[in-house]
Amino acid sequence: MALLNLKNKKIVISAGASGIGWAIAKIFLSKGANIYLCDIDLKNINKVKKHPLNNKRLFVHECDASEEHDVENFFDKIRKKTKKIDALINNVGVAGPTGTIEKLSSEDWERTLQVNVISHFYFTKLAIPMLKKNKSGSIINISSGAGIMGFPLRSPYAASKWAVVGMTKTLAMELGKFKIRVNAICPGTIKGNRMVKVIRDKANFLKIPKRKIEKEFVSMASMNCWIYEEDIGKMCSFLISEDAERISGQVIGVDGNAVRLD
Ligand SMILES: NC(=O)c1ccc[n+]([C@@H]2O[C@H](COP(=O)([O-])OP(=O)(O)OC[C@H]3O[C@@H](n4cnc5c(N)ncnc54)[C@H](O)[C@@H]3O)[C@@H](O)[C@H]2O)c1
Repeated sequence: MALLNLKNKKIVISAGASGIGWAIAKIFLSKGANIYLCDIDLKNINKVKKHPLNNKRLFVHECDASEEHDVENFFDKIRKKTKKIDALINNVGVAGPTGTIEKLSSEDWERTLQVNVISHFYFTKLAIPMLKKNKSGSIINISSGAGIMGFPLRSPYAASKWAVVGMTKTLAMELGKFKIRVNAICPGTIKGNRMVKVIRDKANFLKIPKRKIEKEFVSMASMNCWIYEEDIGKMCSFLISEDAERISGQVIGVDGNAVRLD
């Protein structure tokens, strides 16, 4: 049994200098993998560069994941270090605007889809030849509970995350014959900076206290709990390991059994 041995695996992560992406990177690094990650935020990048886990197995690059040219530059840099990779984690995703649909702007809609969907296309297109060279591999797309349920006041986000599921199912069919597995993870309500902003925006829109919104979010899981960034890292680590070698095309909730999103 391989038991989650990621030694020397080469893994690309989009938007990994904080939040879920960095939690994933830390777990991978602790299991011996080589990580190539990018982020748009220089402050986060500098923090990661100074982290004790930063060693020769971590490469960090400044890049806007929603700009094709930036992503091409990132992959140019990666190809100078390695010809093949074992995995791609399409993690980048913004929360998008909060509001009923008639109050949202087309710019906000387009930006959400550009970051949450089109950027995955840029990364995936460039990663596939490197995964094929490896003769097997894994792509993990980070969707959301909003990718399997409706999410009132967050229509662009929900649309983008359902698109990620569609992309996952289709790619799994296209890439199966190359032994490249493609799965999606749907995180629940994650304890972290993103949810602080999401709760603030919803409380402002509905004009109700933040504490009430927070309680409601947590209660959407049968287990009545927050989910932690590390929970997503552990699922990624399993999915790219040989222990998951026949798991593909799956949409996996890591959410304490989220039964609603409202
Ligand atoms: N946090 C949650 O509760 C939650 C729940 C479900 C799904 N998700 C999904 O998980 C993924 C990660 O979420 P998170 O909460 O860690 O995100 P986050 O908002 O904390 O951001 C993580 C990182 O992404 C970077 N980033 C943002 N836009 C970028 C861009 N255009 N190019 C490059 N880097 C960029 C930021 O600088 C930051 O370092 C997203 O796809 C998100 O939709 C999050």
